[in-house]
Amino acid sequence: MNLRSLLLTVCLACALTPAMAAEPIIIKFSHVVAPNTPKGKAADYFKQRAEAATRGRVKVEVYPNSQLYKDGEEMEALQLGAVQMLAPSLFKFGLLGVRSFELFGLPYIFPNKDTLYRVMDGDIGRQLLAQLEAKGIVGLAYWDNGFKQMSADRPLRRVGDFQGLKLRVQPSEVIEAQMRALGGVPRAIPFSETYAALKNGVVDGTENPVSNLYTQRLYEVQRYMTISDHGYLGYAVIVNKRFWDGLPAGIRAALAKAMQEATAYERRIAQQENDATLAALKRLGKTEIHTLPLAGRIEWHKALLPVHKEFEEVIGRDLIQGVYNIAAQVERERQAAGTTAPRQIPNSIKP
Ligand code: LMR
Repeated sequence: MNLRSLLLTVCLACALTPAMAAEPIIIKFSHVVAPNTPKGKAADYFKQRAEAATRGRVKVEVYPNSQLYKDGEEMEALQLGAVQMLAPSLFKFGLLGVRSFELFGLPYIFPNKDTLYRVMDGDIGRQLLAQLEAKGIVGLAYWDNGFKQMSADRPLRRVGDFQGLKLRVQPSEVIEAQMRALGGVPRAIPFSETYAALKNGVVDGTENPVSNLYTQRLYEVQRYMTISDHGYLGYAVIVNKRFWDGLPAGIRAALAKAMQEATAYERRIAQQENDATLAALKRLGKTEIHTLPLAGRIEWHKALLPVHKEFEEVIGRDLIQGVYNIAAQVERERQAAGTTAPRQIPNSIKP
């Protein structure tokens, strides 16, 4: 190439740049929770990092609180390209027919966060995300929320207290089975309609980490909460595959890095947000909070364990066994180091 054509090429590139900058790539990131939750804050953080890293070439529009789509609608919207990014709860992938994700919904499967992170960040986590590709979806990251607590309009201490109780659940068969195992009657209701369903008596109780219970003001319609840590709620951040694969390589790499940063941030704040909202709930004094003692955890665990067996075929026996093995390894390391993990489900509770 001679100097003249080189300059022509450079000038053409200069002329193109402002036009391209005038039309940023839009990522609509839709989610169902409040902005001041672990997921909501991390979505905003991702926006900040992604826009800075791409110098404005990408614009991330975050739509919290089911503003754009509710549970049950958002996956289809992503597949159709109406939104580009979501972070649904892990058990909602059953709606897409990717049932193995229900692993994360099994009661008492993760005795602590160390086990959980090793599962998410290891072969099991990668294997599950890879299953989404056939559905036109790319899984970018796992985000955390926390262990779930039960709430109701009556105290929930013994398993017998659940008898006949109508309980709002996410659309997930494993969660429905869990409520039945306790004696309750599950009703799948979108997250955005949970407050109204509790207020109007369509359901009597529900479960969620405290960050969700607090930011949706469910304490206004739930007089009792039991700190049971009986299951876990986390998310997969996903994108439309056609959109992702069609991005210029440099932009894709910058977004992947921004996502890594947002994920590290999310993991740092998730427990803090749940602890802070629990403290705020105590200060409000509207909810009677009962911490399930060891004997209660053992009783609930006994009632709930059959759900692991019931879902062996659907989820995969090897995946469930894989989590048990990781939990045992974490426990051996913990004992060797002589450490105790906060909020750990006691050792006496074993699958
Ligand atoms: C729920 O439906 O209870 C949760 O999935 C909401 C969320 O995304 O945290």
